[in-house]
Amino acid sequence: MKLDDVLSALKVNGGFREAVAPGWEKSMEEFPVGIPSFLCADEYKPIREYCGMKPEADDVLDKLSARIAEKKELLLLAWHCYYQMLKDDKIANFRDWPLFEDELGDLGGAFYLIVALAMVPFIRTKFQELGVPDDVCRDTCGNMRCLSSNYENGYGGMPGVIPQQLYWIRHYIKGEIFRLGRMEYWSRELKLMGKVFRDEKTGRKILFAMDGQKFDKDGFAANPEGPDAPGIWKAEYMEDAKSVTGNPLSAFGHALRDKITLPLNEWKDVLREGSLVLDMHIPAGGNMSPEVCLDSLKRAFDFFGRYLPERKSDVISCRSWIFSPQYEKKLPDSNIAKFMRELYLYPFYAGDRCGFFFAFLREYKNLAEAPRDTSLRRAMLELIDAGEPLRGGGMFIFREDLKHFGTQCYRGTECLL
Ligand SMILES: CC(C)(COP(=O)(O)OP(=O)(O)OC[C@H]1O[C@@H](n2cnc3c(N)ncnc32)[C@H](O)[C@@H]1OP(=O)(O)O)[C@@H](O)C(=O)NCCC(=O)NCCS
Repeated sequence: MKLDDVLSALKVNGGFREAVAPGWEKSMEEFPVGIPSFLCADEYKPIREYCGMKPEADDVLDKLSARIAEKKELLLLAWHCYYQMLKDDKIANFRDWPLFEDELGDLGGAFYLIVALAMVPFIRTKFQELGVPDDVCRDTCGNMRCLSSNYENGYGGMPGVIPQQLYWIRHYIKGEIFRLGRMEYWSRELKLMGKVFRDEKTGRKILFAMDGQKFDKDGFAANPEGPDAPGIWKAEYMEDAKSVTGNPLSAFGHALRDKITLPLNEWKDVLREGSLVLDMHIPAGGNMSPEVCLDSLKRAFDFFGRYLPERKSDVISCRSWIFSPQYEKKLPDSNIAKFMRELYLYPFYAGDRCGFFFAFLREYKNLAEAPRDTSLRRAMLELIDAGEPLRGGGMFIFREDLKHFGTQCYRGTECLL
């Protein structure tokens, strides 16, 4: 069947054709005889259970699969989505795929949930090949619950997956990302990073900005592509055989204009661009208390050391809206603020609406309509009202410093800066 015929039968138009077209012919060549098994209750129910999703989701999935089975055009699109997720990879992101309101009403998110669940058997196979225990696989697949809670929060309460979040599951199929306790981890190389030096005597760490990195008057990362407007300054970094000189980044999350020099016979370079780190991701679900965070950090170091030693690292790192010092200031008693105090924070440029999607799970043309029901949402809207960007932030923590968790150890270097 031609894609244009499918789209006109479903009355979806606009930018959608461009989003769905890649790989269409190939998907259609591989379309199986009859209804693909991932749309059958025998297959998705046990998977839904494995992922720890509530049984009420079955009712929604049953209704959805019946609607798909009776409308050939929906069936072909569901197969195309499945095939692209699993086999062809021509569609990098499903962000511009629609929720089929006309055809599916409030079952639109379930269209993506059923595809997401269909990936679980392949994730299990991959994890088995890697020798990773099934409880880690089960916890990782439990992110289907978190994805569904995002859809429920943003779109009125039904189980589903927001199309733009579907691609994330590919990382599980490839055996790249593992959930260990509260967080997920991905062993990969650091990018866009200055250098961290460690004092050989005390273990203290100092991060230098990259040479030429741009900051604003408060030491927050400025747009690297932006104009050199008033207040914007560029960091400097120089290294020779004996010492390193440059602009340090305070562990509180901002750059300092006064340069410092460290002697290289006392300070060693321990982290830089290209270093392998355990890149941390935070699935939705709240409850990020310091105890829960510490437990997950410990598990991550242990897991990679034990099951994937070629991918192990002694550093956990993350870039997210969650590590913007703006929230430490505005919500000092929150879990995110408590976690921030235990980490080495650094500024990282991520546009001016970083995190808005994760707090509101959709865009609002008129911000007056955005809910103000939690202190975080209020904080974000207040920052926007005050003309401040919603910043991103980076963090790292070394394995050797976990024993100091609870003492804000990285902030102790401030006296050296
Ligand atoms: C990060 C996260 C786990 C922190 O949750 P937490 O432990 O409950 O956080 P805090 O204690 O710091 O929350 C402080 C306040 O912000 C609210 N809040 C936290 N995360 C929120 C979110 N994603 N959306 C809306 N409000 C949120 C809490 O409800 C609380 O509000 P209250 O004071 O009115 O009760 C949570 O934000 C979350 O689940 N985020 C979604 C996933 C995400 O953003 N991942 C990172 C992607 S880069």
